[in-house]
Amino acid sequence: MVETYVVYTGINDAIFTINLPYIKFGFGASKEVGFEAKRLGLKKVLLVSGKRLSQTKLFDEIKSIIENEGIKVYTTDKVHIEPEDEALIEAYKEIKHLEIDGFIALGGGSTIDTAKVLNLLYTYPADIFDYINKPVGKGLSPPGPLKPLIAIPTTAGTGSESTSVAIIDVLKLKVKTGISNPYLRPTLALIDPLTTITLPPMVTASSGLDVLNHAIESLTTRPYTTRPAYKNPAERPVYAGSTPLADVFGLKAIEWVHKYLRRAVANPYDIEARYYMMLGASIAGIGFGHAGVHVPHAMAYPIAGMIRNWYPEDYEFGYPIAPHGIATAIPAISAFKYLTPYNHEKFALVCETLGFDVKGLTPIEIGKILSEYYIKLLEDLRIPTSLKDLDYKVSDLEALVNGTLAQQRLLSLAPKNITKKDLEKIFLELL
Ligand SMILES: [Fe+2]
Repeated sequence: MVETYVVYTGINDAIFTINLPYIKFGFGASKEVGFEAKRLGLKKVLLVSGKRLSQTKLFDEIKSIIENEGIKVYTTDKVHIEPEDEALIEAYKEIKHLEIDGFIALGGGSTIDTAKVLNLLYTYPADIFDYINKPVGKGLSPPGPLKPLIAIPTTAGTGSESTSVAIIDVLKLKVKTGISNPYLRPTLALIDPLTTITLPPMVTASSGLDVLNHAIESLTTRPYTTRPAYKNPAERPVYAGSTPLADVFGLKAIEWVHKYLRRAVANPYDIEARYYMMLGASIAGIGFGHAGVHVPHAMAYPIAGMIRNWYPEDYEFGYPIAPHGIATAIPAISAFKYLTPYNHEKFALVCETLGFDVKGLTPIEIGKILSEYYIKLLEDLRIPTSLKDLDYKVSDLEALVNGTLAQQRLLSLAPKNITKKDLEKIFLELL
């Protein structure tokens, strides 16, 4: 392990936080939802789940486990993949008259994010733009804690069950942003690898790639000690930059994705692979929930937002989609290579964790190794390695670059100051 932190200068911030939900992990953890809801004193809950999932046996089972504890369960399936502001407001209008004292989210990142926002709007009603991050919204904090939220993730990817962020697609501005606030973090996460057994291969692959990106990006964000010292603790951001503790989570997650992602995609019933992918997703989520992510995730926003003509297998929604994990993994091919010279010790550590001997290599050679690793991994998972394959053209360059530049909250965590020219070079290699 390379210790790369200048721990105290007096000029820079010397404090990082450790924030975790209470987590129960393991086979069958989701079945303890009734016990946990009761323990939290819940009497009437809203069970939030997407359309597909709410028609499954798993949904019926979770619902009856909660009901068996004498708890009233209301349900909503108003979950959009990559939630939009207008859809969230619509969903809120449908539930605001209900008398509920807690929320349960069963699903992937979009479902958990939807539940976080519904909980916020329900507990402290306000215009959604009051809460959305600056500069799109006012970035206001709710006055106090929200209602209890139990998150039961069903994909091994987003880590949303551990984070205090909800991603929101603001339709009229065509920009993806979110709400970041410590009060958004679920009260409890029930993380059960068995919930991922039925995920189709492409969904498993995309979610797993998201985990790898979370881990590598959070590890290579600029250290928290490079931020200015805050006079007002309230100004300290949720995404703080890398910390020695977040690094530990990131490195272990890289090791597990490297070892188990191909296996989980090849055989959905490989429960050992499912177990470690789920644990990897959770700890990578904890890592990036503290450190943040940077360039590939910022690039993924316009890549997903501008998609016109790509319909990946296993994502049959009837509209074009660039699944989040794929939209972050393709940019990683060129972005990590480009950024390696600016944080080569950490990128060398990533490569070593992936099994490469990088002793004596130059930063440029290290970056190339990581780029080639991504290409091979994506090819093995039958995922495109270029934006051309997603029907993007060089004529889209400017819009893609501008869409990425709008993500300053993430770009500011990159190991170098990111300019328009940097992004042009990174994107051009993929077009
Ligand atoms: Fe992500």
